[in-house]
Amino acid sequence: MLIYGATGHTGSLIVHEASRRGLDFEIAGRSKDKLAALAAEVNVKYHAFPVDDIEGWGLALKGKTALLNIAGPFSETAEQAMEAAIKFKVHYFDITAEVDIYRLAESKDAAATAAGIMLMSGAGLFATYDPLVVHTAKRVKNPVALRVAFKYSGGFTPGSIASSANIIGAGLLVRKNGEIKKITTAPAAAFDLGTGAEDFSLMPLGGVILSYKSTGIPDIEEYFAMATQAGTNADGSMKFEEGQLHAGPVAERSRILVEVTGEDGTIVRSMADTPDGYMPTVSSAVEVVNRALSGSYKPGFQSPASAYGEGLLMSLPDVNVTDF
Ligand SMILES: NC(=O)c1ccc[n+]([C@@H]2O[C@H](COP(=O)([O-])OP(=O)(O)OC[C@H]3O[C@@H](n4cnc5c(N)ncnc54)[C@H](OP(=O)(O)O)[C@@H]3O)[C@@H](O)[C@H]2O)c1
Repeated sequence: MLIYGATGHTGSLIVHEASRRGLDFEIAGRSKDKLAALAAEVNVKYHAFPVDDIEGWGLALKGKTALLNIAGPFSETAEQAMEAAIKFKVHYFDITAEVDIYRLAESKDAAATAAGIMLMSGAGLFATYDPLVVHTAKRVKNPVALRVAFKYSGGFTPGSIASSANIIGAGLLVRKNGEIKKITTAPAAAFDLGTGAEDFSLMPLGGVILSYKSTGIPDIEEYFAMATQAGTNADGSMKFEEGQLHAGPVAERSRILVEVTGEDGTIVRSMADTPDGYMPTVSSAVEVVNRALSGSYKPGFQSPASAYGEGLLMSLPDVNVTDF
């Protein structure tokens, strides 16, 4: 595996987790000095090159099976990294939460299939979210509507704050009768994630693309709330008070509530709670890429659950699922 963007906060955690699990990998990114220091810590080879350097990609991807892209915001890196993966025929993974990047991956389905590689954007949060949706959808006959509420507990890194402008900037996207629609306003919706009813805001987290891929449910709405309140910067990204920004652990766990309605009107709910902060993304990304390295993959654009089913949930550490 090649890990590009290895020197950021999440990249560095992923590098140490991949090393702990004994994966065969090298690291890459644009900053030579940071790469040299990190490579020395885990005793691997590094490749320093900017994301649009196709020769750099060719050299770094030689002999590799998979590329894991952690360099975000992904609006600046995913197109180049996906094209390199297709050209040099290696499986592609990233951990983005930017919905436009999922649409980009979807648009490259035919090229990835022709190259015989898997293209999976969203191997972070969605490694829990998407199999949980598949799990819940199986509890009704013919699922027709899906609502998901995600409450994130933890801090944010500069890369995530930059990405948040793209997530919010994508607008209020929902899926209706199988089509993506942009709506202009949406009232807050109340969900109870185990601590009483709370208001959530409509936000396209990516299930409108990824969980449509894995389930085909025609109506999808997604909602988001944070344990830490944030304002908004002029560019649309999240704004925190001085000293409030951190990506370390906090007391509360993150929770994902999935609600599926069947054709006969039956409503079922399943909820996953996970550790707070970025560690679930770290374990998920390493688990998913390791599966591809072991030869388990489906060619073309895939979501975590379209490739690995609800069983993926069971292989993630410290994730508890409750059905009700
Ligand atoms: N959805 C999820 O589950 C999840 C969880 C965690 C993080 N993320 C996303 O992952 C991304 C990285 O997060 P992070 O915590 O590692 O952020 P970070 O600590 O701010 O690091 C950002 C990384 O991206 C690299 N980078 C940024 N722009 C680049 C460009 N144009 N070309 C090459 N490299 C570039 C940086 O390189 P330098 O070191 O050279 O500056 C650095 O390695 C963010 O977009 C974040 O939202 C998603």
